[in-house]
Amino acid sequence: MWDDVKNLASRTDGRRIEDLFDDAGRAADFSTSALGMLFDYSKTQLDAPIRDALIALAQNTGVEARRAAMFAGEKINETEDRAVLHTALRNLDGGPVLVDGQDVMPAVLATLDQMAAVADEIRASTITDVVNIGIGGSDLGPAMAARALSPYHDGPRCHFVSNVDAADISDVLRGCDPATTMFIVASKTFTTIETMTNARTAKDWLDHHGIGSDGRFVALSSNAGKAAEWGIPPERVLGFEDWVGGRYSMWGPIGLSLMVAIGPQAFRAFLRGAQDMDRHFCAAPLHENMPVLLALVGLWHNQVLGYTTRAVLPYDNRLGRLPAYLQQLEMESNGKGVSMDGADLTVPSGPVVWGEPGTNGQHAFYQLIHQGTRVVPVEFMVAAGGHEPDLKHHHALLVANCLAQSEALMTGRSLDEALDIIRAKGLTGAELDRQARHRVFPGNRPSTTLLYAQLTPEVFGKIIALYEHRVFVEGVILGINSYDQWGVELGKELATKLGPLVEGKEPADDKDGSTRQLIDYVLTYAG
Ligand code: F6P
Repeated sequence: MWDDVKNLASRTDGRRIEDLFDDAGRAADFSTSALGMLFDYSKTQLDAPIRDALIALAQNTGVEARRAAMFAGEKINETEDRAVLHTALRNLDGGPVLVDGQDVMPAVLATLDQMAAVADEIRASTITDVVNIGIGGSDLGPAMAARALSPYHDGPRCHFVSNVDAADISDVLRGCDPATTMFIVASKTFTTIETMTNARTAKDWLDHHGIGSDGRFVALSSNAGKAAEWGIPPERVLGFEDWVGGRYSMWGPIGLSLMVAIGPQAFRAFLRGAQDMDRHFCAAPLHENMPVLLALVGLWHNQVLGYTTRAVLPYDNRLGRLPAYLQQLEMESNGKGVSMDGADLTVPSGPVVWGEPGTNGQHAFYQLIHQGTRVVPVEFMVAAGGHEPDLKHHHALLVANCLAQSEALMTGRSLDEALDIIRAKGLTGAELDRQARHRVFPGNRPSTTLLYAQLTPEVFGKIIALYEHRVFVEGVILGINSYDQWGVELGKELATKLGPLVEGKEPADDKDGSTRQLIDYVLTYAG
């Protein structure tokens, strides 16, 4: 199946993307509009035969059947024997969702109401600062979302502490008043060492200031038992089921900090946007299906053309944490070496995802994207309008820069054009040629652009659900289980064993020479 697509890669030999626009209908033909958003993938090497082959690949690898299985609550996370139903968390009016024959929706909707009650209580209280303590999916989602939706904040200030580095919690607590601060301990397992260490430090901080923990902690977890052991009463524990993966969890209780910041109504709008994308994903034919097309473009670049990284460049400063969020979403989901049945993958696993908001990145790493020897496919995104009506000229500049970058990546600048520019500066002879060569842009570099009207809660929900489903489609086509993360375990186990060694409580004799040397240094200089 892959061969059918790979065999088409030679169609791109010597072909320039810009020449594909000789077909006047290309922009419209290689774009898809849905839910008020426009996804333009025309500035890539995809042509009709390549797209058809990619769509056939999706069909032949069972994307549609797997999609139906996911939404139906089947246990598609086979290595953990779990359903994958983050979509149920935003199924506001979508009817029953069965897991093991039981409709989970009454509990999901009741938890949403419970979240709203807790959020309203906090918002109406004298609490001025809420600190979410969590890591990975229990941090990146809500932290990224809280920043994305900052124009909608009308609640207490929200802070996020994730790192076990004491610097993180210390820096946050320094700006908080213990009398008016409360903590949300977000951990699906309630065993994650970083989160539990930070939560303990928060408790000690309140105790130290004579406040105590009563009413100051809320737990968000699938492990009610552990939260109770930790001393959080059941009515302050918002639970969710094991069929919500950590990196897919901000739609439910893990999103509480966001709900506190923007209020339950705006949070529901965020869920509604995601539900709209779920419906589009389930109903739209594959050639118009935005998550499917985004996935196919990704596979074309990564697995077929061998571009090993993918840059996500939001021209939206409030999406500044989106690349980090997508790193977890995509790399923890599709960074696997074996397929569902345990066989080695025959194509590379998912790409390295990275990025920064534009225009900042332009003044940092775009040099390599334009002139480096490696091709980096770029995913741009930008809103047609901003949230600052008095500063529309900023937004126009932002949009112009975004469009300029995709155009520059595609068209580049030839040696002749560069020579003309340098000649105009008065240079001649060998120096003219030498200088001009530095000003050549190879162009022919692929990018996609996602446009949306404005980054409202609803639109933001659509964008995140779009990326979630993209990861799903890529995972199915790769034959990967996108919903486990065994690759994070080994480091955690070793860290637990190394703890006493770096404190000098146990000898490091059985460690390799490098690790022993590093420990020696730490023990010498730790102070
Ligand atoms: O170590 C990886 C991971 O398990 C992520 O998948 C998860 O989002 C994160 O740790 C945090 O886990 P928890 O919510 O259980 O604290």
